[in-house]
Amino acid sequence: MPDESSERESGDDTESALEARLAAGETYEPPASFVEQANVSDPGIYDDFEENWPDCWEQAADLVSWFDEYDTVLEDEDAPFYRWFTGGTLNASYNCLDRHVEDGAKNRAAIKWEGELGETRTYTYGDLLNEVEAFAAALQELGVEEDDVVTLYMPMIPELPIAMLACARIGAPHSVVFAGFSADALATRMNAAESEYLVTCDGYYRRGDPLNHKEKADKGLRGVDHDVETVVVDRLGDELEHFLGANAHDYDELVSDHAGASVEPVERDAEDMLFLMYTSGTTGQPKGVKHTTGGYLSYAAWTSHAVLDVKPEDTYWCAADIGWITGHSYIVYGPLTLGTTTMMYEGTPDYPDKDRLWELIETNTVDIFYTAPTAIRAFMKWGTGYPDAHDLSSLRLLGTVGEPINPRAWTWYYEHIGGESCPVVDTWWQTETGGMMITTLPGIGEMKPGSAGPPLPGIDAKIVDAAGEEVGAGNAGYLTVQNPWPGMLRTLYNNDDRFLNEYWQEYSDPDADEWVYFPEDGAKIDEDGSITVLGRVDDVINVSGHRLGTMEIESAIVGVEGVAEAAVVGGDHEVKGQAVYAYVILEDGQEATDGMHDRIVEGVEDSIGPIARPEEVLFTPELPKTRSGKIMRRLLEDIASGEELGDTSTLRNPEIVEEIADQVGEN
Ligand code: PRX
Repeated sequence: MPDESSERESGDDTESALEARLAAGETYEPPASFVEQANVSDPGIYDDFEENWPDCWEQAADLVSWFDEYDTVLEDEDAPFYRWFTGGTLNASYNCLDRHVEDGAKNRAAIKWEGELGETRTYTYGDLLNEVEAFAAALQELGVEEDDVVTLYMPMIPELPIAMLACARIGAPHSVVFAGFSADALATRMNAAESEYLVTCDGYYRRGDPLNHKEKADKGLRGVDHDVETVVVDRLGDELEHFLGANAHDYDELVSDHAGASVEPVERDAEDMLFLMYTSGTTGQPKGVKHTTGGYLSYAAWTSHAVLDVKPEDTYWCAADIGWITGHSYIVYGPLTLGTTTMMYEGTPDYPDKDRLWELIETNTVDIFYTAPTAIRAFMKWGTGYPDAHDLSSLRLLGTVGEPINPRAWTWYYEHIGGESCPVVDTWWQTETGGMMITTLPGIGEMKPGSAGPPLPGIDAKIVDAAGEEVGAGNAGYLTVQNPWPGMLRTLYNNDDRFLNEYWQEYSDPDADEWVYFPEDGAKIDEDGSITVLGRVDDVINVSGHRLGTMEIESAIVGVEGVAEAAVVGGDHEVKGQAVYAYVILEDGQEATDGMHDRIVEGVEDSIGPIARPEEVLFTPELPKTRSGKIMRRLLEDIASGEELGDTSTLRNPEIVEEIADQVGEN
């Protein structure tokens, strides 16, 4: 690594230039060389989509191969239960694999994987198809039938996308549970989806150490209320011995037993479920977001094409985890549908050193890189010496997702990773939207650091006030989407009522059959139509780009013996964006000891996972409450963020606010 002085010097230099550009509110044009080769570069696309809506979405559907052509682009009779590309049939695995092999791309790399210890594996499209077929045959032999939900609980190993595609091939929806989630979280999701099949692994590496994953999976299975057939991938070999109990099968054995199998891709109706993805909401119960085959796949492919500019000859890297929607849409389904080479990295960005990602970009000559602002803030903290030590000139485009990116982080990314020659797309979207919704098109739009940009062509996003009236430029309001789009969720699994209540109640007018989607984000819009997303307006917080429900964390804390009440809020955090702050009231006679603190942290880790671990646990005799008994979360957020405290005059117990704030100051 370069010495510290050069690091500091370059940091200082950049800072003054950067400050000046930011202060001038400068926008950034995409480089002409990028525009020239961009998949989408005609500004007329916005008008074109508006004038031809909803038929404009045929452009997305054209990126996938259909067995039977669809009859209708959009059916809205049962709105907001919209149906897209009805009458069409297709298979996602066929689209991601067979058709590229048939087109002569058998030997092109589909997945380039790197393990944390530096081992690499490359799957060509031909290899991937073979293994997917073998595993699909094995799943069928285990009894998996069309429409059975298969749960996948794996870290970033190639067997995860292989299992996803094998499920898609036989028409069995998958439900991927992020490997960092706890045993309890796995059990909750398997029970909710009535999932009778689980694919997991023995373990994986984290910062060089083998981590036992199977232990967690086994514990989770003990909480599942029905029988489960399990498949276990042997990731760690001799490093970690594991035993297979009853109803458990070894992945490698299954694949070798079915080597050479030919499994026809099942013809799925466009509206048939491709997968379920559980995400956090306002209540303690995670929501099972249902995505379909035709609309979702078309939308993932279209946005990968138009926004990420993916081309078959690219090496493309989305450094997310497949356990979240970003990985589903932009590591697996979008890029593979387009026939490109998609990268996967198992480990953390700072192992063995803080230049791991830059080294991977250099050695793999990565063209497109997509990550989260929380990662960029960490890179900034580590210093420019790490990226400067590598040749990153292969990069053509950069992207961010998951949370608002502050202009300083945006500009740092643009300068130090993109070398001022790559457009940066700040993409706003959600698990529910299936794909990107608000972002500049990199071959067309001017970029404004900190602002995601305009809605994509065909997307009608508006910022409204509480009464649903559009707010003027510069004013904050609520983000809404006024028309449907192909990648949208179709419902919440087994819970149409909650689907209607959560997303379609606030600003819709059912009597007039007017449906407005409410994503529960605040935002503001500039004169030029560029949207800055401000963050969630519900009880969901965003920790390192991971979406967590405060209610879920609260119920985990209240489940700890001796705790009477808890309130969880997000406080500002330099790197994580937000961090979990837990305010806890103990039962009479209980003491606020270190032991109690640790039990609370453990309780959260057991119930959700380490990502939800509280940054601070603050013991307090009372919570600030209004006279009607409502907890004033806003004040708790102010305390956590170290901000000036808002109005306390409506409180029943205003004195408690100072008391808690003092405690935070001491910690
Ligand atoms: O608050 C928004 C924030 O992340 C939420 C969605 O989280 P999740 O469903 O986990 O999906 C994350 C990956 C798509 C949104 O409601 N969010 C996501 N992207 C951005 C963002 N906030 C600001 N700017 C973004 N680019």
